[in-house]
Amino acid sequence: MTSPAIPPRLPLGVLPTPLVPAPRLRAALGCGPLWIKRDDLAGFGVAGNKTRPLEHLLGDALARGADVLVTGGGPDSNFVAAAALAARVAGIDCELVVWGAGTLDPTPNLALAAAAGATVVPLDDVGVDGRERVDVVVAERATALRAAGRHPVAVPRGGSTPVGAAGFAVAAAELLDQGPAPDTVVLPLGSGGSTAGLLAGLAAAGAGTRVLAVSVSRPPAEITEKVLDLARACADLLGTPAPRADRLEVVDHRGPGFGVAAPGDRAAAATALRTEGLLLDDTYGAKAFAIALDRLSGGDLPGPVVLWHTGGVASALAHLGPRPSDHPALTGAP
Ligand SMILES: Cc1ncc(COP(=O)(O)O)c(C=O)c1O
Repeated sequence: MTSPAIPPRLPLGVLPTPLVPAPRLRAALGCGPLWIKRDDLAGFGVAGNKTRPLEHLLGDALARGADVLVTGGGPDSNFVAAAALAARVAGIDCELVVWGAGTLDPTPNLALAAAAGATVVPLDDVGVDGRERVDVVVAERATALRAAGRHPVAVPRGGSTPVGAAGFAVAAAELLDQGPAPDTVVLPLGSGGSTAGLLAGLAAAGAGTRVLAVSVSRPPAEITEKVLDLARACADLLGTPAPRADRLEVVDHRGPGFGVAAPGDRAAAATALRTEGLLLDDTYGAKAFAIALDRLSGGDLPGPVVLWHTGGVASALAHLGPRPSDHPALTGAP
């Protein structure tokens, strides 16, 4: 086994997150051994899984002498809120380019970012156009800040770079330290950094674990290629063996649209809440659990299985009341 060359880390979370058995959910589904990896309890704001990439992105930014983090995302992005807090802990400024922020109601995540003192650059664009524009405007803002004598570090949406993905490679090692390698890990898939890092970390440890990633925002062919490229780039950075493509299965569960849960997703979230007290958001958690619970109850996922609870607590609470996803401008996104 090769020892990974981990990029610099700014400690943010309370790690390791717990790995807990889910006996009531298991009984409800009639399935084999089932565990929950509680990254919703990552211990940094309400950042969930995004705590992990930010530890290395900010560690790297500080090592480069950055004085301002420039990044962005959607109006209900956990990453955006988490980045604002992480920049504060690093002692640097934060600029956030947010699609739809000019046209949509403020969400708890955006309110949190603003309360933490981040400068929000709102884009009126929504859906795919908005999403694509964010990274372009992030790069433009970084160029403008550099011209003004600042030292910006530009990070794309979701923090899904090889350095950011290293956070989940470390998470894979953390998981394997907590017990025997599971047969399958299930997690939601957005910008891809979490899945890519997990694949890189599992390969580094020589584990045969399969990753079932539930795509919530992009067609599987497109996101699979992106994840595998990122996983290989992350392994290169760490100096560890390249992950195998056949360890990854991507399931398309964009459903009614980005941020919009179908009735079956809400039913899965209700089952998780009422059996194990897990709070799942519409955008990520409910969709991943819907696929996982369906497969587990159908006997299609041989155990032991780990369901990775990635967090999303701020929007999960908002979804219990009027839903951001009821907003027509958001439901247009694929
Ligand atoms: C709660 C939650 N789960 C899952 C994801 C998906 O992670 P990734 O973007 O690394 O694929 C995100 C992304 O923001 C998230 O906020």
